[in-house]
Amino acid sequence: TGRRSKAVVVLASANDSLALFSPSKVNLFLRVVRRREDGYHDLASLFHVIDLGDDMQFTQLPAGATSDKLVCSDPTIPHDDSNLVIKALNLFRRKTGVQAFFEVTLEKRVPHGAGLGGGSGNAATTLYAANELTGRPATNPQLLEWSGDIGSDISVFFSNGAAYCTGRGEVVDDVPPPLPLATPLLLVKPPVGLSTPMIFKSLDLGRRSTADPLQLLAGMTNAGKISPELCVNDLEQPAFDNLPELLQLKQRLIKEGGSAFDAVFMTGSGSTIVCVGDDTAPQFLSEEQYQQLFVSPARLIVRQPGAWYEHSSKAA
Ligand code: C5P
Repeated sequence: TGRRSKAVVVLASANDSLALFSPSKVNLFLRVVRRREDGYHDLASLFHVIDLGDDMQFTQLPAGATSDKLVCSDPTIPHDDSNLVIKALNLFRRKTGVQAFFEVTLEKRVPHGAGLGGGSGNAATTLYAANELTGRPATNPQLLEWSGDIGSDISVFFSNGAAYCTGRGEVVDDVPPPLPLATPLLLVKPPVGLSTPMIFKSLDLGRRSTADPLQLLAGMTNAGKISPELCVNDLEQPAFDNLPELLQLKQRLIKEGGSAFDAVFMTGSGSTIVCVGDDTAPQFLSEEQYQQLFVSPARLIVRQPGAWYEHSSKAA
């Protein structure tokens, strides 16, 4: 009987823990529609969740706990209320009234200042986990709506994975995946990251693209393949102005990547360049250049309704 009670204890504690994959995203196109009175910008962007991500583990703390505990593999990430994971837990308690606290471990793989929404993915994964571990007091549409309070590109993670986003980015419409999920992607990021507020601030609205975002969406969806003229990102101009090496890197990937890539473009506010069509590291990079860059293959992913994202090699 001693054995049996031990087994029960193990099962009970397993129910209080959840290990989840925390994905990131790319913007297949990003149009800035206008500058708003509140300092934000209205966007029209095709987002796609990808399988470059972090590992997260959530354990609900026993009753009586009054604060969350965050253990992160990256010591440069703040542990206070400015951390998006803690912001997500505070938001969850405020909106649901559920006074649950958690220990969260976060194994980071997604670089920051990259335009990949790594921190936003962590926040979304945290909201999903807190909801699961507390008996689902909230619905998926509620989590989607609430997440807009703490960041513009968190809501998209509550889509099915491919979404046309407007407003600040938090108005999310599911779309069918525009490209086959097996499409190989190669992400290439220089050592320097870019700050989103700084990039929006230095955007010159007069130098934007004039492409109609709904035509970009239709173009991509109907063709079922990508072409460079559809991969417009209005934030490339301010990113390249701030970081001329990034323009050089993009041009180099286009020129020397030869016919390997169907399209090469920046995601979000940078500084990651997304290459579509091949995921092998370009030969033209010297070993030294290669060591300095963040280079990672990736795949587009979607999630099944009611489930969370999984790394594509596990999801297959
Ligand atoms: O919403 P989030 O906290 O991710 O945005 C960070 C900053 O990026 C905002 O404070 C704002 O300066 C800028 N931003 C913007 N328009 C958006 C999204 C972000 O100007 N649609």
